[in-house]
Amino acid sequence: MSRFGTPDRFKASDNSVWVEYRQLSIDYKPVNLGQGYPDFCAPKNVTKALANAALSPNPLLNQYTRAFKKTSDTITSADWLFDKKDMEKLFNEKTKGIIINTPHNPIGKVFTLEELQFIANLAKRWNTLVVSDEVYEWIVYEPKRHIRIATLPDMFERTITIGSAGKTFSVTGWKIGWAYGPENLLKNLKIVHQNSIYTCVTPIQEAVAVGFEEELARFGQPDSYFVCLKNELLTKRDFMAKFLTDVGMSPTIPEGGYFMVANWIALENKVRLEEEQDANKDYRFTKWMIKNVGVLGMPSSTFYCDGHKHLGEDNVRYCFIKDDENLKRAAEILLKWKSQK
Ligand SMILES: Cc1ncc(COP(=O)(O)O)c(C=O)c1O
Repeated sequence: MSRFGTPDRFKASDNSVWVEYRQLSIDYKPVNLGQGYPDFCAPKNVTKALANAALSPNPLLNQYTRAFKKTSDTITSADWLFDKKDMEKLFNEKTKGIIINTPHNPIGKVFTLEELQFIANLAKRWNTLVVSDEVYEWIVYEPKRHIRIATLPDMFERTITIGSAGKTFSVTGWKIGWAYGPENLLKNLKIVHQNSIYTCVTPIQEAVAVGFEEELARFGQPDSYFVCLKNELLTKRDFMAKFLTDVGMSPTIPEGGYFMVANWIALENKVRLEEEQDANKDYRFTKWMIKNVGVLGMPSSTFYCDGHKHLGEDNVRYCFIKDDENLKRAAEILLKWKSQK
C-alpha cells in the first residue's frame, strides 16, 4: 500500500450502494422509493425550535457547551424469524457483544418479548454487551408494541440503547442521535465519541430537546407527532402493500418502521436482467427498473454480508415515508408497466 493509500480496513466500504443509487436517481429521475428519507416537511415545532436556538440571545446555544454531562397469504415481518439454534451457536466465551435492531430496517420486524428474552438470556449467560438500535421506536403499528431489551430483568447494566432524531422527527439530514445505558458502559462510548467527532451540532441538539419536551406534554394524545406520524404511515404502508401486490410482487408487511421488503421474483420474466452487469440479481433488477420503468428501490442483498448475499437477492426494499403524490405516481407507473405485454 502506498503511504497515503486507503487502508485495507476501509476498502470494503469504498463502494457505497447509497452513493451509487443516489447517482442513478439523478441520472434517470425515477420515483425514488429507495432511500429512507421523508420527502415532506418536518414538524413545524421542531424546525421552529431549531431556528429559535440558532437565533437565541443565549450565545451558548450555538456553542459546544454540553457534550456529555405466519402464515396466511400475507407475509408480515413477524414471519421473519431468527434461528435460535444458530444464534446460540454463535455465543461463546470470546463473544463481546451483540447488536440488535428493533423495529428492524429493512424487514420492519418488531422483536417479540419472547425473542428478546431469548437474546437477553444468551447475553447474560455469556456475559456479553447488547447494543440495541431502536431508532424506529415510535413507528410501530398496532397491535405490536415496541419493547426495549434494556427493560428486561438484569439487562439495563449490559445494554446501550440507541435512538435517532432523524427517525423520531423525520429530519434524516440532522444526523443527531443519542445513546443511553449504565454509566460504566457510556463512559467507553463517550471516550470514543469525544475523540472522533468531539461533540454534536448544538442548535440541532437544542431543537431536538425542545421537540421532546413538547412531545412529552402531549404524549399519547391525538395531536402527538408520534401518534400522527404512525397513523399517516400506516395508510401509506397499506397503500404500498396493495400496489406492490397488484403489480405481482410479494411484500412483507412491516410491523414497524417505514420500509417494505418485497419479493420481486414473479416479475423475472418481465425484466431483462442480462442488460445489467452486477453480480447480484437484485442489483440487476433494481437498476433495470430505474432505467426502464422509472421507480427506484434498493437491492436487498446490500444488507447481507458477503457470504449471505444470495439470501437477499429475491427482494427489493422500498420506502413509504413519501408524499402521497409520489406513492401514487409510483403505483401508476408500476401498474401501467405491468399491463404492458
Ligand atoms: C436501523 C438504523 N439505525 C441507525 C440509522 C442511522 O440513523 P441516523 O442517520 O439518524 O443517525 C439508520 C438510518 O437509516 C437505521 O436504519
